[in-house]
Amino acid sequence: MPDVSVQQLSKTFGTTSVLEQVDFTIGDGEFFTLLGPSGCGKSTTLNCIAGLERPTSGRITVGDTTFVDVDRKVFLSPEERNLGMVFQSYALWPHMTVAANLAMPLKIRKVGRDEQARRITEALDKVGLAQLQDRIPHQLSGGQQQRVALARALVYSPGVLLLDEPLSNLDAKLREQARAWLKRLQEDLGITTVYVTHDQDEALALSDRIAVMSGGDMLQIGSPHEIYEQPAAAAVAAFVGRCNFLRGRVEACGSGTTTIRLADGGDVVRVAAATPAPVGQDVTVAIRPEKLEVVPADGAAGAVNLLGTQILTRSYVGSHYEYDVRLGDHVVQVESTRDGLSGRVCLAFAPEAALLYLDAALPADAEDLLTLQV
Ligand SMILES: Nc1ncnc2c1ncn2[C@@H]1O[C@H](COP(=O)(O)OP(=O)(O)O)[C@@H](O)[C@H]1O
Ligand SMILES: [Mg+2]
Repeated sequence: MPDVSVQQLSKTFGTTSVLEQVDFTIGDGEFFTLLGPSGCGKSTTLNCIAGLERPTSGRITVGDTTFVDVDRKVFLSPEERNLGMVFQSYALWPHMTVAANLAMPLKIRKVGRDEQARRITEALDKVGLAQLQDRIPHQLSGGQQQRVALARALVYSPGVLLLDEPLSNLDAKLREQARAWLKRLQEDLGITTVYVTHDQDEALALSDRIAVMSGGDMLQIGSPHEIYEQPAAAAVAAFVGRCNFLRGRVEACGSGTTTIRLADGGDVVRVAAATPAPVGQDVTVAIRPEKLEVVPADGAAGAVNLLGTQILTRSYVGSHYEYDVRLGDHVVQVESTRDGLSGRVCLAFAPEAALLYLDAALPADAEDLLTLQV
């Protein structure tokens, strides 16, 4: 299976710039996900690969074939690209049987009748629907329709599979099952896959690598583990998983440890920081709720970082408790398996558990969280 290379890809609609100089390369057989909030340019990127949109500038190559090169005026039509595509809406032809839906792309490619029948059965076998060839789409469940759409994308053995939010129309339980099933299928087929979603859990569960997008930019490209544990920007930490952001100012910067006085509550914390920050610099400390430990106010001697706080609310969510605690004038979220904590408590965390950002630009919803007054 070929690799996909996207270079300096830009797209403007009228005067609105939607993609700005986007670069990424997807390896052979890789499951690569474009993740970001609605409107950030995920579908536009995918549609440029598919040939459904013409980029304003840039180059896209798949294997040895150049799909688009704006400078050299190269533009292959969607049919010439041999890609399989599945949309959120499935886009099945409602009046045709499952078999007829799958036959359509084969007819366009002038595949003979016997070969059509063989390939249709094979593709439906892959998605576990060989028995339902003669149904029409409205006689199928949402999950089955989604599988038919996938079979139709696979029936002509495409070089690359493009999936635009294919699970978004399924209910939560079915979506999780479909996720595991899709991952197994993709691994079995070994097909290079570009997947678009705004669902961070889906991206983490499915992908070999994720590109986090925001406003037409790529904020970070990395494995799910890298994206979650080492977010390159506060905006990535805010978008993938839950995260607390504490404002502060650098008081000292030693070997691998930065000492920060928090604006809220005035506590001093120490954070293991890869990049040194100058004394006096305003910074944002980011800590995920599960990396904070709630300890009784009198039982936490010896911890490096200890913040005096007060519990506001406690919610039971089955596997653990979620506490909202008050730190200065703000609310901090904590996950804990400890029950029965109330009143004054301390939050403890290891220096390695927190991340430090110098340019503390946060997306609006994270800014809201930070400024959530008690
Ligand atoms: N054909 C179009 N004409 C004008 N604006 C468009 C068109 N398609 C998309 N856009 C705009 O481009 C931005 C990115 O859209 P899209 O790539 O669909 O985002 P996403 O898939 O990440 O939700 C949005 O602001 C959207 O309104
Ligand atoms: Mg979209």
